[in-house]
Amino acid sequence: MKGKICGTGAYVPQNRMDNDQIATFVDTNDEWIKERTGVEARHIAGTEETTVSMAVMAGKRALANAGITAEEIDLLIVSTTSSNLILPCTACEVQKELGANRATCFDLSAACTGFLLAYNTALAYLNSGVYHTALLIGSECLSNLMDWKDRGTCILFGDGAGAVVLKGTDGDMYFPVTHSDGTKGEALTCKSRHDWSNLYDDSGASAMQDQMHRIGMDGQAVFRFAVKRVPEIIGEVLTQNHMSKEDIALYVLHQANKRIVEAVAKRLDEPIEKFPMNLQEYGNTSSASIPILLDDLHQSGKLHEGDKLVLAGFGAGLTWGAVIVEW
Ligand code: COA
Repeated sequence: MKGKICGTGAYVPQNRMDNDQIATFVDTNDEWIKERTGVEARHIAGTEETTVSMAVMAGKRALANAGITAEEIDLLIVSTTSSNLILPCTACEVQKELGANRATCFDLSAACTGFLLAYNTALAYLNSGVYHTALLIGSECLSNLMDWKDRGTCILFGDGAGAVVLKGTDGDMYFPVTHSDGTKGEALTCKSRHDWSNLYDDSGASAMQDQMHRIGMDGQAVFRFAVKRVPEIIGEVLTQNHMSKEDIALYVLHQANKRIVEAVAKRLDEPIEKFPMNLQEYGNTSSASIPILLDDLHQSGKLHEGDKLVLAGFGAGLTWGAVIVEW
């Protein structure tokens, strides 16, 4: 059984923050951000927008695009690291709003590799015949986790959601390749409210409060990791599936940084035109970036029946992975 993406959808907040706006509250400038990252703007959730509400919008659009109803979904996975609630999970909240009452729902947390792992998880279920139609959503409200005083991180990220409908079809599935290295986890962290251990000092005061819920990153370590591991894993997924670079129409990479994408293209010796990007407009939306880009490509007619794509994700954990998708 093969997975077939039969619908895409995306939602980004209307509120657009360009680099000049960021430069009004941290010491940075448009030229530096564009040159080092490729990012020109990011979209930031308004007060009424949440990880759930963005996921619902993207999910609705993907269902409409696939031409199916919410009742047809039997598996609903939301990939997120920025859910607004601990309980219930985001996927159940989305189920409620969509009316996907037959679906089994759960969240998956693997940061920027999360959507790829949600895709693989669904593929395994479809392949084994447990479920038949999956709605996969990556939704992130990273602005809630940002240290807006840290120019090393706040310039990079944005909010948004992307979704795909995945169905099982006849044929052999392409084997995904994924890796994790927990020993390098300190490179990209967000100390969360689950970390009660250091929360209170002897007086009972909330000593950690200021550092909590904020993304911290060793930018150069993450950069080095990405430009080494992503080309490697793309090579691995091609070998594993007995394919070559010539078989691939497009590489849909997690949208972290233009220089990372360019370095991957160079190491693979592939033309940059095969690496579509939209990070200039949305920044890094973590697990939402791949499905938002897929939706952009689909809506603009850049994906054709039978095209083979490589999706590749990488990020906190550290985690990274690649999978081949036939359009
Ligand atoms: N504006 C202006 N100057 C900045 C700045 C900003 N937003 N952020 C950092 N700088 C400064 C630094 O303070 C440093 O100044 P110094 O030389 O006086 O000390 C200088 O720019 C270089 O900093 P450095 O951290 O070496 O820059 P860099 O070229 O590595 O770029 C990142 C920083 C974060 C853009 C880059 O490391 C990166 O993109 N890493 C990957 C991050 C990522 O993608 N994470 C998510 C993965 S899922």
